Amino acid sequence: MEQMKLTIIKYPHPVLREKAKEVLELNGELADLSRQMLEIMYSANGLGLAANQVGFLKRLVVIDMGQKKGRPEPMVLINPEIIEREGNIVGEEACLSVVDFASDVERSARVLVKAIDLNGKELNLEAEGLFSVCLQHEIDHLDGILFIDHISPLKRSLYKRKLKKLLPALGIAEKRW
Ligand code: NI
Repeated sequence: MEQMKLTIIKYPHPVLREKAKEVLELNGELADLSRQMLEIMYSANGLGLAANQVGFLKRLVVIDMGQKKGRPEPMVLINPEIIEREGNIVGEEACLSVVDFASDVERSARVLVKAIDLNGKELNLEAEGLFSVCLQHEIDHLDGILFIDHISPLKRSLYKRKLKKLLPALGIAEKRW
């Protein structure tokens, strides 16, 4: 694959609302896309990134929970699926695709996620705390769901009003609203 120039797509672009399709073939292009997604995620200081956010409707997410410890632990999850959930947790979330906003979101406290890696190896991830939240946030992206869908309608409309004023400065076309 040619060196792509990935950019992080911002809300309210409609691609963020589309459902990503199951990955059926593991190949070099997918490995290349994953590597470039990790790069762009690191340069934006994110913990996770879903393929929708760079315009690819594939069920692929990259996550690195090791950055805060100064020890990178890049993970590539293909066709990830939450198979069990337990408890509740509330924590502040933000998103590389949702500019200038953060809010508390309620999530499952613990999740069990099944996925495969780039070699087709099956992964079973038991996650809690921030890792659990991150997995839920990224897997939501693959279904066209954003963290702002989990906040109160009032908070959401306040954010939309604020964003509408920001859109021209951000170079985001309002017709995509
Ligand atoms: Ni996000």
